[in-house]
Amino acid sequence: MSVLVTNIGELVTNDGPGGAFEAISDAAVVLDDGLVAWTGPAAGAPTADERVDAAGRAVLPGFVDSHAHLVFAGERSAEFAARMAGLPYTAGGIGSTVAATRAAPDGELRANLARLAGEMVRQGTTTFECKSGYGLTVADEARSVALAAEVTPEVTYLGAHVVPPEFAGDTARYVDLVCGDMLRACAPAARWVDVFCERGAFDGDEARAVLAAGVLAGLQPRVHAGQLGLGPGVQVAVEAGAASADHCTFLSDADVDALASAGGTVATLLPGVEFATRSPYPDARRLLDAGVTVALASDCNPGSCFTSSMSLCVALAVRDMRMTTQEAVWAATAGGARALRRGDVGHLGVGARGDLVMLDAPSHAYLAYRPGVPLVSAVWRAGARAV
Ligand code: NIG
Ligand code: FE
Repeated sequence: MSVLVTNIGELVTNDGPGGAFEAISDAAVVLDDGLVAWTGPAAGAPTADERVDAAGRAVLPGFVDSHAHLVFAGERSAEFAARMAGLPYTAGGIGSTVAATRAAPDGELRANLARLAGEMVRQGTTTFECKSGYGLTVADEARSVALAAEVTPEVTYLGAHVVPPEFAGDTARYVDLVCGDMLRACAPAARWVDVFCERGAFDGDEARAVLAAGVLAGLQPRVHAGQLGLGPGVQVAVEAGAASADHCTFLSDADVDALASAGGTVATLLPGVEFATRSPYPDARRLLDAGVTVALASDCNPGSCFTSSMSLCVALAVRDMRMTTQEAVWAATAGGARALRRGDVGHLGVGARGDLVMLDAPSHAYLAYRPGVPLVSAVWRAGARAV
């Protein structure tokens, strides 16, 4: 079954030199057998089994959300309200989500996950990563990664989110568990290993130990780095060859240099967190101007940022982080794909997965120009209409 989407006002392909942002005006795209089969000027488009008239709308690659914490129970709106009334964000609230998650039956976690996954696709996210990290026992982490694997192949084992209360004062013993029995229980269902490398969570040596154990178990590393203050997270990520260092809100010059010269570690910025914690935004220009690859992701979680909207992330990146509209859309699509080491998504080159977002707008810039407006009017996932 093939589909021709034609009369596209602007088709963002991210198929420029080296996978750079590129857009074609008055364009068409053909999806066949789940993949992109053709892109080019509408006037030269081949026929297909089905024809969709975009009537001048913009079409983009589906968003790639490379950072989300979707396996949890409960909610923390009171914590958010208190924060807006003046309390600072600390990662302390994670404990209440851990308690609620441990107490929840599988069905409740599965239903919450399905609701959030559906919310994502309706907003144009066609690939998303999902972390564990609110279980923090062997059994609760194992069921978290297993549930995540039901909705995405991009499953991340985050046993090293925080030290749970029953291990308070004995981080070393908890790290042993994370690197031992818990890892063995989680690795079969996961692709990635992550660690929250931050004061109050895990220090540089603990983070190195967690990543090294994960790599030995066949997982690939990614790191929560520089969210709340300067620290060793970025250096640990680069040393470990991590696919991504996430947050990057606080960076030293050495961190920026390390990301720029390593090349293989993407800086994933999560501006929804700064929005929802009323914190200074990461300095995207400093990273882009140094040649670092930048991704945008939601960090959807019940504490620091409860949005699943990649459109909001694009709007914040443009308005408050001085990314151009092209840089922001690239970061939310191709950048996310690089942060997940995926060559098949985030762009619309021939052979890419047939993941498209159609906007009820003539260009990608409207994502920032019309913030908060639900512009996603159709979504194709692996060649099939999803929305
Ligand atoms: O990425 N930084 C650690 N983890 C999450 C926050 C989790 C929470 O507050 O529940 C984050 O922001
Ligand atoms: Fe996170």
